[in-house]
Amino acid sequence: MSKTAILEFDGKKYEFPVTEGTEGEVAVKIDKLRGETGGLITLDPGYKNTGSCESAITFLDGEKGILRYRGYTIEELAEKASFLEVAYLLIFGELPTQEKLDRFYKDIKGQSHVDEEMKKILDGFPKSAHPMGVLSSLTNALIAFNPSSVNVDSEEDMYKAIVKLLAKFPVLVAWTLRKRQGQPLDYGDGSLGYVENILKMMFKQPHETYEVDPVVAAALNKLLILHADHEQNCSTSTVRMVGSSHAGLFASISAGISALWGPLHGGANQAVIEMLEGIKNDGGDTHKYMEKAKDKNDPFRLMGFGHRVYKNFDPRARIIKKAADDVLGKLGVEDPVLDIAKGLEKEALEDSYFVDRKLYPNVDFYSGIIYRALGIPTEMFTVMFALGRLPGWISQWREMRLRKEPIGRPRQVYIGENQRAYVPMDQR
Ligand code: CMC
Repeated sequence: MSKTAILEFDGKKYEFPVTEGTEGEVAVKIDKLRGETGGLITLDPGYKNTGSCESAITFLDGEKGILRYRGYTIEELAEKASFLEVAYLLIFGELPTQEKLDRFYKDIKGQSHVDEEMKKILDGFPKSAHPMGVLSSLTNALIAFNPSSVNVDSEEDMYKAIVKLLAKFPVLVAWTLRKRQGQPLDYGDGSLGYVENILKMMFKQPHETYEVDPVVAAALNKLLILHADHEQNCSTSTVRMVGSSHAGLFASISAGISALWGPLHGGANQAVIEMLEGIKNDGGDTHKYMEKAKDKNDPFRLMGFGHRVYKNFDPRARIIKKAADDVLGKLGVEDPVLDIAKGLEKEALEDSYFVDRKLYPNVDFYSGIIYRALGIPTEMFTVMFALGRLPGWISQWREMRLRKEPIGRPRQVYIGENQRAYVPMDQR
């Protein structure tokens, strides 16, 4: 028999259906709450207890530290898969055969050209502009050169839009970096793999040939996979919300990039390195910063620590911490901030403030250290996160449109003034 939940309000009882996911997660369906009770709504700032949708893409269990894309564990995918394979899995639901993957990549390569006029738009930005702002703007600008309205009832139309974005986005990422560095813009090399080509587009010097270092490519592949999706986080919810008004794919993704930029979300990876550098330059006293993080009168937070849903450990952080040791070792890079990071983590894991609040290192705590070892400048870290998250955003947007979800439009509890008469200017 299907489960129900009873709500008692103003002396009356109301019954609501309970829905259960494939991993046993239960939710009370309250879409009829307001109508049946004559006005009652739920209030949940930050959506801590609100499921915004049913989704078959990513499962995570924050208590057990589980993260799976389409049923496959993040540990196995990070170890065995390529980023493009994971992108295909997320978007289309199944791991591709070699033939399907080859076809997918061929189609992507066929769409990698970015209109030359886009360079003029890029030129309009000062070199000092933050790359996330530039990337979000360029992604939106792509609409002017590529019709954004996708016929979502046509698989072919949907596929074309997805392939275009997966093709052009890395070019925009590389151009954003190169413009910043005063380098000529480049299209890379179609004979390389997706991730290898991204590296070449970013780092090839005009007067030199570029050899892809397999250690660097493998590390980037892993990082991109670990960032590829994370169910209904802030930027993904933004993508789904914007897309729910039937705004196009590129416009929705551009909004997602803006949401990711904030330091409480993807921007934390840049903030972590800046924090670790700050601690190093201040003499390396981690204890002092632990105390600051715990002081409620001090706005300082330990960046890269804590998570809305992970309350035991972030499985991505575990993989990245190990990868940081491996990659820095293999590349022969010694980075003193890695020791500071490990010191902070050790202290936090033994400190009741962090233990009681279940605050552990998140995906952003060690990722910046690897990005830095790969030669990626600090202001580009969140852009790298966006590059990894792109297939997740696309898959969530596609799912939302295919399920014909209604426009996202939360309600509120108004706490402002009651009706009052207009006061003429001379009486205020
Ligand atoms: N340093 C110090 N105290 C913290 C931290 C932190 N990093 N994170 C949470 N707390 C405290 C917070 O002050 C609160 O304490 P109290 O109960 O005494 O008021 C308690 O822990 C619960 O925090 P919260 O802000 O209510 O938790 P939340 O679920 O709303 O926020 C978070 C989650 C990730 C925004 C937050 O932990 C944070 O700001 N972390 C630092 C930024 C960061 O690393 N963000 C990356 C998140 S993972 C990648 C991604 O999402 O992109």
